[in-house]
Amino acid sequence: MLSLNDAFSEKDMENWVERISKLLTKEEIEKLDFFCEPKLDGLAIELIYRDGIFTIGSTRGDGIYGENVTENLKTIESVPLRLREVEEVAQDLEREGEKEIADFIKENGLKEVVVRGEAIITKKNFELVNKEQEKLGESPFANPRNLAAGSIRQLDPKITAKRRLDVSAYDLVSFHGQKTHEQEHKILHALGFKTNNKYCRYCKNLQEVFEYRNYWLKNREKLPYEIDGIVVQVNDNRIFQKLGVVGKAPRGAIAFKFPLKQATTILKDVKFQVGRTGAVTPVAILEPVEIGGVTITRATLHNEDMIKKLGVKIGDTVVVGRAGDVIPEVVQALPELRTGKEKEIQFPKECPVCGSKLEKPIGEAIWRCTNPKCPAKERRYFYHFVKVFDIVGLGPKIIDRLLDEGLIEDPADLFTLKEGDLLPLERFAEKSAKNLVNAIQSRKEIPLARFIYALGIRNVGEETAEDLANHFKSLEKLKNATLPQLQMIRDIGPVVAQSIYRFFRDERNLKFIEKLMKVGVKIVEEKKPEKQPLKGLIFVFTGGLESMAREEAKKKVKELGGEVTESVSKRVNYVVVGKNPGSKLEKAKKLGIKTITEKEFLDILKKE
Ligand code: IVH
Repeated sequence: MLSLNDAFSEKDMENWVERISKLLTKEEIEKLDFFCEPKLDGLAIELIYRDGIFTIGSTRGDGIYGENVTENLKTIESVPLRLREVEEVAQDLEREGEKEIADFIKENGLKEVVVRGEAIITKKNFELVNKEQEKLGESPFANPRNLAAGSIRQLDPKITAKRRLDVSAYDLVSFHGQKTHEQEHKILHALGFKTNNKYCRYCKNLQEVFEYRNYWLKNREKLPYEIDGIVVQVNDNRIFQKLGVVGKAPRGAIAFKFPLKQATTILKDVKFQVGRTGAVTPVAILEPVEIGGVTITRATLHNEDMIKKLGVKIGDTVVVGRAGDVIPEVVQALPELRTGKEKEIQFPKECPVCGSKLEKPIGEAIWRCTNPKCPAKERRYFYHFVKVFDIVGLGPKIIDRLLDEGLIEDPADLFTLKEGDLLPLERFAEKSAKNLVNAIQSRKEIPLARFIYALGIRNVGEETAEDLANHFKSLEKLKNATLPQLQMIRDIGPVVAQSIYRFFRDERNLKFIEKLMKVGVKIVEEKKPEKQPLKGLIFVFTGGLESMAREEAKKKVKELGGEVTESVSKRVNYVVVGKNPGSKLEKAKKLGIKTITEKEFLDILKKE
């Protein structure tokens, strides 16, 4: 699952069309049209239906691997457990003037349907859930998006069920005869999904896109959901496909975001937070203020230079801005409203958590704590580690408790936790303790890039970790890399190279890595999508195989991206015929589907 690039102005949108036009022919540019829809602020999910039955639901995850959240999604009313019957779907589409698609579906059925959409919560339900949270003594959710994400990535489907979520479908991935994105929306509706169709619009040019966007900018309050902009997509699917993907986003679609939401309030105080790399960030403590439907009491001031640039003092009236899911920030101070009682902000000379000296390398804007054992660093590092290992259900609150109780000292200890260790903790019942232990154990295998990112090496973010993994291919090689070797890698400059080099020369870090391996963490090869040569090919097996068990053969096909089904139909590409084949062989012959011997099958696997 991809994501979208952002545009913030009409100029950005014009540039986008200009960029994509360079990749198109004159005829294509002439008929370029768009489909626009509200950009919902929730969590992206994918739903797979086999023979009309909801089979797998997943989150976006890192775009390649998501999390299986089928059981949780089943509790959401607007996720149909079963699609409407082929006849009903076809009738609906015919009524909508889509006879060709109706015929296609009648002819081909609905064997596999893959749909994407956004899990969201209405503004009204958001408030209801938050009220309940408060009653339970839990902290309220900051925004509808956090709530949706937190409810779906839950170990206990019962909790998901209570959160009153909705799923709005916006993308049809499987092919059912559609030629445009507009038609996909119609099909989604006919299949029985909840859609936003009545708020969407076909636009024949950018001018109409601008009108649509301006309409929603003025009228967004009329929608039951939070939206943070509109999504504009090239309507013709063939052109959309042709435009391809750059980075993690398709060229043929863009998020045209609404401008930053702002509000004014009073800066009551400034606290200094210490991050996992020891970075000290000034956080503005604000008189509570509502921005775009959520109340905020904190905003970032980024760093010392920013405080100077804004010229802001404690007691000032300030403008605070927030764009979608971005952390709110102080964007402006209003000195003309001063009373004379305002105080200068004192940036600390020592770490506010452990009292050690702070240092700021020349050319950097950020002060850092110099104490490697600073507790703030360790706790934050824990949060980072757990997030990268993607351990479901292990949030900061539980980590805090585990640390406070002395149950764990470093993240490697997590993997040795047993049910019985958790039970004495408040609010852990047998089931949730067991689920958490299982969740931790299920994350022991991790691709190299994620492992490197999880180490929390300063200046090594997700992408750099990816580059390092691609370059060195093994942790051993990375560990032993020399400075010049590191600097040779594209996108890695001297500063980053230094911090990687230093990291692997620190005895404590090496010990920690060793400990991780000892408790069973295993670096595994990432199954790259390029390594899926059988993608799109469907296999059926009939009769006994000689060289391997049927199950093993199926596994091999799936590993290479192919699909295995039980019954022979028109969409099947190969029928593998073993000893004493059954009726499937006849059916394959009747439908004219290619049959292959076991040897030919093995050749296909080998070639790949
Ligand atoms: S189309 C290639 N349509 O926005 C991705 N996305 O910023 C195609 N989103 O991950 C997405 N409403 O979760 C699309 N009507 C809509 C959307 C929408 C919300 C989310 C989606 C996506 C994110 C990208």
